[in-house]
Amino acid sequence: MDELIKILRNSIEGEKVANFKYELFSEQALKENLPVIAYVFKVVAYAETIHLRIHMDSLERIKEDSSAIEKQIQINKVELKNQVNRTIVNLLNSRVSETFEFLDKYRNFALIAKKYQEPIIEKNFSNVKRAERSHAELFQDYLIFLDDNKEIEFKKLYVCEKCGTVRTEIPSERCPGCENLSNFFIEIHK
Ligand SMILES: [Fe+2]
Ligand SMILES: [Fe+2]
Repeated sequence: MDELIKILRNSIEGEKVANFKYELFSEQALKENLPVIAYVFKVVAYAETIHLRIHMDSLERIKEDSSAIEKQIQINKVELKNQVNRTIVNLLNSRVSETFEFLDKYRNFALIAKKYQEPIIEKNFSNVKRAERSHAELFQDYLIFLDDNKEIEFKKLYVCEKCGTVRTEIPSERCPGCENLSNFFIEIHK
């Protein structure tokens, strides 16, 4: 069980880092006069707070005090500020880290939860994994726009409150990340 607590702590730290980094990347995009990209980062930053909440719920399931653990995990804000680059590099790095999370990190964490016979925690990790994939795809789409040097068109973004999946449209029936009904999607305003 210690292993499960360890990966949940690691997950909480990762989501805190991602949230803080994307807020910084959003500010940086505004400085470069890229308001659409600033909005994309802001939306994904919000989605990572949903993941944080999911990992805390997982900790509660194994009778851990999630708030106490969350408070213990401090991120190095100075170091993260130093990681802010030009927006195109920030987008590229973000796509890389989201891809790692869905292909590797959360996939393995779901297997560890399975090993400890914790099906709900396993499902939580799998849902987060699929949501991270939607983040990677979103960053990829905007990288292409930025690369083309075209005027970037504003598109509304919607986030599933249950799993943090981000889409440009509300799915017709169910969320592809968590399979909950699509009425859990909310529009994030600019
Ligand atoms: Fe993400
Ligand atoms: Fe979802």
